[in-house]
Amino acid sequence: MAQKYIHGFEKKEQDRLIAQADFLEPYVYQGVDLEFTKNLLEVGCGVGAQTQILCRRFPKLQIDGIDLSDAQLKTASKYLSKELKSGRVHLAQQDAQKMRLRRSDYDAAFVCWFLEHVPDPLLVLKNVYKNLKPGGKIYISEVFNHTLFMEPYSPAYLKYWFEFNDLQWELKGHPHVGAQLGNLLKASGFKNINVEIRPFHFDSREPEKRSAFIDYFFDILLSAEKKLIEEKRVSPELIKKMKSEVEIAKKSKNSVFYYSYVRATATK
Ligand SMILES: C[S@@+](CC[C@H](N)C(=O)[O-])C[C@H]1O[C@@H](n2cnc3c(N)ncnc32)[C@H](O)[C@@H]1O
Repeated sequence: MAQKYIHGFEKKEQDRLIAQADFLEPYVYQGVDLEFTKNLLEVGCGVGAQTQILCRRFPKLQIDGIDLSDAQLKTASKYLSKELKSGRVHLAQQDAQKMRLRRSDYDAAFVCWFLEHVPDPLLVLKNVYKNLKPGGKIYISEVFNHTLFMEPYSPAYLKYWFEFNDLQWELKGHPHVGAQLGNLLKASGFKNINVEIRPFHFDSREPEKRSAFIDYFFDILLSAEKKLIEEKRVSPELIKKMKSEVEIAKKSKNSVFYYSYVRATATK
């Protein structure tokens, strides 16, 4: 894990992961085709938010989920009690940089909002490659945090976001890893690499979605508030300004929200 996990493991944060998975489901699962896949490796499964969606959408899947954190896995075992009981899901505490798995011939792998948190994303992808069967497919959805923008221009919001990402970088995370996915997959040995930049771009044409995305992102920003204050990276004044900019953007008729994440797929 990056030296300290930027979001933390409190209940509020674990609930945020479940809300996030539901909120982004229509986007993240666009183009995910696991209809005829049996054994799936989910790397960095967290509290099981994606695991549950995967089980619901693809009834034939058997999922092995790994995560490094005890706290996440404890919550996952409650959240996924039905799936665990039926034997569809198996959870294990593992560092994705040193995977020791129960099989080495997975049909597919699923990695979502994860590589940003590890010091060595290349090592993770090399490990996934090793544990896929020939022809096995990997689906990755990752952040590209540099792309966040809000109109009206919101300097305190962007300054806070810079500090958020710079802290993550200092903690040996990779807040812009989405931009590197093509390089990382190639260096791991994958073939048929496809990288898609997927924008969230909302303006006065879709005011409800715009407002929902501003709120959703604001929660992400606030998830690091405590750490950023502890590290003296942001002041209470900056936070106050940022909050008022978000309020202005929410009320302004012509505000714009923009962020891109990156979807990559590849095969062994
Ligand atoms: C943002 S959460 C994403 C969880 C899940 N993929 C989702 O979309 O809800 C990132 C997860 O990565 C886990 N993690 C961080 N470093 C790890 C590592 N080296 N090996 C395995 N899991 C790790 C954290 O414990 C956390 O649960």
